[in-house]
Amino acid sequence: MLRYALAVVAGLFLASTVTVVVADRNLDIPFPFNCSTKTLCSDLRIKLPNENEEYNAVYLGLTDGALNFNLSNKAGNELILFLGGIENNRFRVIVEEPDRHRYKLEHSLEKEPTTTPLTVDSVEDSAVTASDGNGNKAIVRLTPLSIEFYHNDVLESVFEGNRIIFQNTEDNQDFTFSVRFVDADRLLGLHEHAADLALKHTVDLRTDPYRLRNTDYGTTRYDLNSTESMYGSVPVIYGFGANTSGIFVHNAAEMFIDIDNNRKSAYFMVNGGTLDVFFLLGPSLKESVRQYIDLTGKPHLPQIWALGYHQCRWAYNTTEDVKDTIGNFDKYEFPLDVLWLDIEYTSERRWFTWNATSFPDPVDLLNWVDSQGHRKLVPISDPHIKIDLNYSIYTDLLNNSYFVNSPNGSAFESECWPGETSWIDYLNPGARDYYANLHLYSNFPSTPALGGFWNDMNEPTLFDNLYERSLPYDTLHYGNVKHRDVHNIYGLLQTLSTHQGLIARDEGKLRPFILSRSYFAGSQRYANKWSGDNWGYFEDLRYSVPMALTSNLVGVAFYGADIPGFFGTATEELLIKWYQIGIWLPFFRAHAALGSPRREPFRFPNETQVILRETIGLRYKHLPYWYTLFYEHTRTGDPIVRPLLYEYPEDKTGYDLTDELLIGSDILAASVYESNATSVSVYFPGKDQSWYQVTGDSPVVFESGNFSDVPVDLTFTPVFYRSGSIITRKPNVQRSTADIKDDPNELHVVPDKNGNATGRVYIDDFESFNYVNEKQYLYANLDYDSASKSVKVTSIDSDSDSSNFTLSVQTVYLYNKKDDGTYSVDKIDQTKDGVPLVDIDLSTHSLLL
Ligand code: GLC
Repeated sequence: MLRYALAVVAGLFLASTVTVVVADRNLDIPFPFNCSTKTLCSDLRIKLPNENEEYNAVYLGLTDGALNFNLSNKAGNELILFLGGIENNRFRVIVEEPDRHRYKLEHSLEKEPTTTPLTVDSVEDSAVTASDGNGNKAIVRLTPLSIEFYHNDVLESVFEGNRIIFQNTEDNQDFTFSVRFVDADRLLGLHEHAADLALKHTVDLRTDPYRLRNTDYGTTRYDLNSTESMYGSVPVIYGFGANTSGIFVHNAAEMFIDIDNNRKSAYFMVNGGTLDVFFLLGPSLKESVRQYIDLTGKPHLPQIWALGYHQCRWAYNTTEDVKDTIGNFDKYEFPLDVLWLDIEYTSERRWFTWNATSFPDPVDLLNWVDSQGHRKLVPISDPHIKIDLNYSIYTDLLNNSYFVNSPNGSAFESECWPGETSWIDYLNPGARDYYANLHLYSNFPSTPALGGFWNDMNEPTLFDNLYERSLPYDTLHYGNVKHRDVHNIYGLLQTLSTHQGLIARDEGKLRPFILSRSYFAGSQRYANKWSGDNWGYFEDLRYSVPMALTSNLVGVAFYGADIPGFFGTATEELLIKWYQIGIWLPFFRAHAALGSPRREPFRFPNETQVILRETIGLRYKHLPYWYTLFYEHTRTGDPIVRPLLYEYPEDKTGYDLTDELLIGSDILAASVYESNATSVSVYFPGKDQSWYQVTGDSPVVFESGNFSDVPVDLTFTPVFYRSGSIITRKPNVQRSTADIKDDPNELHVVPDKNGNATGRVYIDDFESFNYVNEKQYLYANLDYDSASKSVKVTSIDSDSDSSNFTLSVQTVYLYNKKDDGTYSVDKIDQTKDGVPLVDIDLSTHSLLL
């Protein structure tokens, strides 16, 4: 009922500007659905193929460097199996019926992966062995089928054919299979779940299997420490251990995954589509992550403003409200880059319209926003379209058959924010082009100060619990594709189209910014992501960290959680603690549900404001560090925030510590998620290195390999710099990233025990694609040499045309560890009369301290 109540409140609250007609139907239908209510899971979870159902393989031969097999069982079922090599330690296995059409997923892979021809080493009665010439080998055992994958003769994973079940009636295309990660200590992955990093043991039937089915729970609180599905799905698992390998299940249908932590295996029950699995043979976690993201694509850099602070609420209702809020950020000296417009800026929730009463002159407003420190507005735009014959977008879509259809062939109709709606069929290329064009300035009055778009409710969500709040699986998309087969990629397709629209809108000059709630493997090419409608409780704060860590391992790096919990009224203490960790997640946005008390930072008592100002300021001071990490992510796919085990795979103590996070490799932040905490136990990873505490008043140095109780109070959350690093920062916090991006920098040099320190820095024009198209950027190594007391700057990328950019340094801070476990800092001024002495242009090279 709460959703209904909220909608009514919305209606009253906004009566003067919009008419809100939203009601949940079928509220007595149980929700959420789980394993026991879905035959996909309840039937298949416990079904072990008997001797007659197990598949045996017959080798058919090698075609274009890939192996083909016939699979059959005594029950008379036949399948075909394809085993191919993919460059860079990867294999691909596809299994399908010889005579039946199954949907083959599109749009998730960035491109067809480059294959490596396999050589058949031996064909025996019981097995066929093939290798790729690069140390990777597959042994296909024929009776029953199983495939062993080896890297450098180490067995990494096994595709367990004895768990294959294929249902193949017209209405039921469920299938199953299992993979075992032979050498694994922990299984990781399967984003998105509100859960810890290591996947739980579920096969004992006491816990539901992990479920991947993009889902919105509305106002029902999503479970924490849970395997239940959430808004996004990335079917990737890593078997992390001495040899790490992974798999990517290239399939966007609903799936349940039962985890056996004794065998280190994952049993997949999939609702349709093709069995298509990539095996990533690592052999490290770092390499496995790279092998995965190389398949689905690395994102482009965001514009720098997207790394600043985002203020959202449902909703800033009028032009005055927007101006007043931004004005108060300046008045109370809080930096801000983006103010968000939730669904009420529209005319009755018709997307790509402005409410004529409350936003009479959007271009004028956007020009004003731009004049206030080049800030941005980001409006919401959902994939459902109000049914209204006077709304040309609706009639255009209807007339062109661009909506998802009911099985009877007419546009499917149900309810969402605007009342009765239909859903755009983004599988249809024509619909995608039409939707993309809506973003043009000529179609939606705006300017580049409308920084991007927020694609929400794109699981897609509708207000009918009978359908588990989404499109029924028998609704039909372009090409007669059942929604069942593409459910999890619907949101990706919306963002693909939005991205296309923003590229066209700005003639390819500005990097698009899109926030999406729903997600699939590959979405990172178009959009960033937040963890949806969390609540204002300490537990929600706690889980925001492992959620961001897992998302970063599966390519969804630009991720964050609504601060301080979307629903509910967070206490002031929780709000402060949430900001203190929220600044260390890649996406940094505060949001508030409809009807929540106003809670922008400037609305709190002065003591709280002081803490929040300092906290948000820390984010801005570290912008050069963040921007460099984001750039490196575009080159490598490496996570931006990292669990300890990623950087320290040999250090078992850190394996399950998911309330600590590394930002890149050099900054460690420890989350405080208990009320009134006076200390927090922090593990300091690594060998022979030290961690310098940089928040709070105590300049303490902690040694690696130990847990320490670090005192905390309300004013800070503990953050540390790693010895051996050079961190580039901005000295001052100003109104926005635009105001500080060109300021001179400061270098924080934290020498290791041998007196060395290194870092990297990346600079470009912060907004365009010239860094890709013209190679216009500066990417440099910073090396501190204690003997010569200098920092040497060396270009990393000889391809880059760095002539437009210099690294301007104002101050160097040299950290000195003292014998009593504290440290002092030498501040070495690099200016004369306030002007930096050295603008390092790589020909000058060294900065003398
Ligand atoms: C959904 C979103 C939330 C947004 C609301 C209204 O609940 O998750 O962020 O404020 O819709 O648009």
